Amino acid sequence: MPMRLLMALAAILLAGLPAVSQAGGKQVAPVADPLTQKVCGECHLAFPPGFLPARSWSALMADLSDHFGEEIVLPAGQAAQIEAYLVSHAGDAPGGGGLREFMRWVAPTGIPRRITENPAFLREHDFPDRVWRDPKVVTRSNCLACHPGASRGWFDD
Ligand code: HEC
Ligand code: HEC
Repeated sequence: MPMRLLMALAAILLAGLPAVSQAGGKQVAPVADPLTQKVCGECHLAFPPGFLPARSWSALMADLSDHFGEEIVLPAGQAAQIEAYLVSHAGDAPGGGGLREFMRWVAPTGIPRRITENPAFLREHDFPDRVWRDPKVVTRSNCLACHPGASRGWFDD
């Protein structure tokens, strides 16, 4: 484990709270489309589309009636509009630039529905159970608990 990760983890354990400082680092383009931000930011962080390949966003948008146990009902046309935005800004979209590195997380034919199931995510977030059980965290999907800058695209240290 790289030193800075050990230090980040030590900070989490010492403070009893997960925390990531925002000094330096690289920005992941946040969701810039107002409709996607509104609909997909209602229950959790509107996840930056660069974290998943286009086929994942299409699969998620095709299955809104069973979205991790939730049903998402949208006015006609909105799902297609959101899908178009997510797909065109996906990690493997042409011109996706720096976000391409996140696609190494994804198996060549895989269609992951979770950012948090990717092995590299799990390696980067290999924290003891008690961190995940912290009432401020509860789930790996709760990026904002530890990355206060996540809605602006900051996940780095
Ligand atoms: C009604 C609430 C709700 C809305 C609205 C919603 N989601 Fe979710 N989403 C969830 C829940 C619940 C989970 C599972 C969280 C967990 O496992 O702790 C989830 C998980 C996800 C995940 C996987 C996160 C991970 O663990 O990596 C993605 C990706 C996702 N949602 C995308 C979207 C997109 C795209 C939209 C907009 C179309 C959206 N969500 C709108 C409730 C919602
Ligand atoms: C329990 C706290 C916690 C949660 C929840 C969490 N992270 Fe992290 N994450 C961390 C820590 C700590 C690091 C290491 C930061 C560092 O490199 O200093 C990290 C690192 C990262 C990195 C690598 C940054 C880099 O380039 O070094 C990314 C990307 C990331 N997280 C994305 C996410 C996303 C997306 C979510 C939600 C789906 C999430 N994280 C949820 C604590 C968390």
